[in-house]
Amino acid sequence: TGRSEALAEKVERLKREKGAVVLAHYYVPAETQRLADYVGDSFYLARLAKTLDAPVFVLCGVSFMAESVKLLNPARRVLMPEPAADCPMAHMVRREDVDRVRAEVPDLAVVAYVNTTAEVKRWADVCVTSSNAIKVVRELPEKNILFIPDMNLGRYVAEQVPEKHVILNRGYCPTHNKIGVAEVEALELAHPDALILAHPECTREVLDEADFIGSTKQIIERIATGEEREFIVLTVVGVADQIAQRTEGQGKRIYFPEPAPVCPNMAMVTPEKLLSCLEDMTGEVALPEEPQRAVEPLERMLELAG
Ligand code: 13P
Ligand code: SF4
Repeated sequence: TGRSEALAEKVERLKREKGAVVLAHYYVPAETQRLADYVGDSFYLARLAKTLDAPVFVLCGVSFMAESVKLLNPARRVLMPEPAADCPMAHMVRREDVDRVRAEVPDLAVVAYVNTTAEVKRWADVCVTSSNAIKVVRELPEKNILFIPDMNLGRYVAEQVPEKHVILNRGYCPTHNKIGVAEVEALELAHPDALILAHPECTREVLDEADFIGSTKQIIERIATGEEREFIVLTVVGVADQIAQRTEGQGKRIYFPEPAPVCPNMAMVTPEKLLSCLEDMTGEVALPEEPQRAVEPLERMLELAG
């Protein structure tokens, strides 16, 4: 429409004027993703920002993503169009639980999913994302792993890396954890030839139904490059727009559970908020306390994940 074209023009002009690069996660609204310079999964966005030479990054996503970009690029300004967009899982771990395991278990590495606050990262030895967790955990010298905060991803990693002893925490993603196995089975019944792809934040019962488990980016790649015609996608419906773009003209059919999984925090990052963020340069992310201690596990992830 004319209104969204006018908004897009303003965003482009402001990006140039302010030297801003806009990064977006696949879970924000499609209209916001289309205004971004780069769209990706959480690992891609964290790594990419280190390679870009811009004075300002605008991160369309949740606060742990913006915080990671700031930690890895402390000299840059990092803005969030919606500073209240926070991932509930990022807070689902207690310091005392980490300290207890550290005191009790020898030969231990504390592995923090990037979906954590900078405060939680300071307690960890290394970070992981859903795209590299298996590789990173496999390469750690320690035999025992405390995986925080996501119990679903942690359990999946434990199964894939049986040589490690993985201690789980009780965090979870409210959106992925809610996808029920009954809905998945109903989809399978309706589309028996479909390939089933799931994000590892889904429950074990749901992951047991999956043919492919991976990060948002890995799910999109697998669909775009696959020979199959039908796909059941078990993650936030935000990935649908990229899948549609990457598979244009291929006649592929994509099915999501009903109701379609939405991340309410990512959904708040609208094009209007991106525009006013660029206009007023608001929503700046501060460098957290003791940044060096939180950067170390992120840097170690970048080293181990390649
Ligand atoms: P990805 O690392 O797959 O982008 O996932 C981030 C996330 O928040 C999943 O819920
Ligand atoms: Fe957090 Fe889940 Fe939203 Fe990802 S989808 S940002 S894990 S609440």
